[in-house]
Amino acid sequence: MKIVQIGIGGWGKNHARILSSKGILTAICESDHEKGKEFSEKFSVKNYSTVDELLEREIFDAAFVVTPTSTHFEIVSKLLQAKKHVFVEKPMTYKSEEGEKLIEIAIKNKVILTCGYIERFNPAVESVKKIVKEKKYGELVMLEFHRENRMPLHIKDVGIIYDTSVHDIDTANWLFDEMPNVIFARAGQIKHEHEDFTSIMLGYSNNKIAIITSNWITPKKLRKFNAVCTEAIISSDFISQEIIIENQDNSEIIHNEKKEPLLNEIESFIGAIEGKSKHIVTAEQSVNVTKIAEAALLSSKKGIPIYLDLK
Ligand SMILES: NC(=O)c1ccc[n+]([C@@H]2O[C@H](COP(=O)([O-])OP(=O)(O)OC[C@H]3O[C@@H](n4cnc5c(N)ncnc54)[C@H](O)[C@@H]3O)[C@@H](O)[C@H]2O)c1
Repeated sequence: MKIVQIGIGGWGKNHARILSSKGILTAICESDHEKGKEFSEKFSVKNYSTVDELLEREIFDAAFVVTPTSTHFEIVSKLLQAKKHVFVEKPMTYKSEEGEKLIEIAIKNKVILTCGYIERFNPAVESVKKIVKEKKYGELVMLEFHRENRMPLHIKDVGIIYDTSVHDIDTANWLFDEMPNVIFARAGQIKHEHEDFTSIMLGYSNNKIAIITSNWITPKKLRKFNAVCTEAIISSDFISQEIIIENQDNSEIIHNEKKEPLLNEIESFIGAIEGKSKHIVTAEQSVNVTKIAEAALLSSKKGIPIYLDLK
């Protein structure tokens, strides 16, 4: 298996570390000359400064694309057309129509296209998904997400909905195992060029609800969620990966064996290429997340609910 990585910035350093430790990283492509040199030396791999050059000279099976959102469509199109399997970081594309075009190209070229909705691979979410599926505490009725942090100064191309809330949109769809039919959102802007705080309400079948609150204002990193079931409330923390289950009489703490979600996610993608794993985020699910993010932005601008019919 030969893997290349395009973009080694704040987040991409982690993919490269894992891929290199598995001995499958064969080249990097980084447009920043200094960074490219630093990481090609660190991981003892070749460095290219453009995707065209990479495709022309390097033989490989799959690529990780960890560049800013606005660049995803162009880079991923080229890779898929060259029949490479692609893992692209979230959100898959800036516009949902671009995502739909990528799906067509991936199907035509018979390659896997997946997107980095990492929380599905978080042991805490995996446990909650299992509990909810088994209906151990009755029906899942509501989900509440809180994701807060100081603003990431380097993100210029998108606001908090596309950058941050998308994680919780995907996790809500995953835990409910369906797509929302209505989206209502409020969003505002204090310091960023785009929106930097938001609260999004997603409506699912039978009036089930997900409420997603994200901000880049408060000076503390906080990533928590609650799953409200008919017989208990399940509370969890994406960072500590701990789970607390409470009902009227009892409170139970579940300690998960802490594992790096990115490692799980990368192993699943590699497993899918090898035909051993089916647990990947599908390209269709990823485009749906973009459509929901677009609807949230539109809803917050117009002050109205947006109804969607997602497959
Ligand atoms: N899953 C997660 O938890 C998570 C966390 C952070 C970021 N991300 C996603 O990862 C992606 C990158 O974010 P980041 O924070 O690492 O950004 P970043 O700006 O720190 O890094 C991006 C890197 O890509 C390089 N680059 C840009 N265009 C390029 C091109 N055409 N060819 C080669 N290299 C190019 C830049 O020089 C830079 O080094 C975004 O899609 C972001 O949403 C995901």
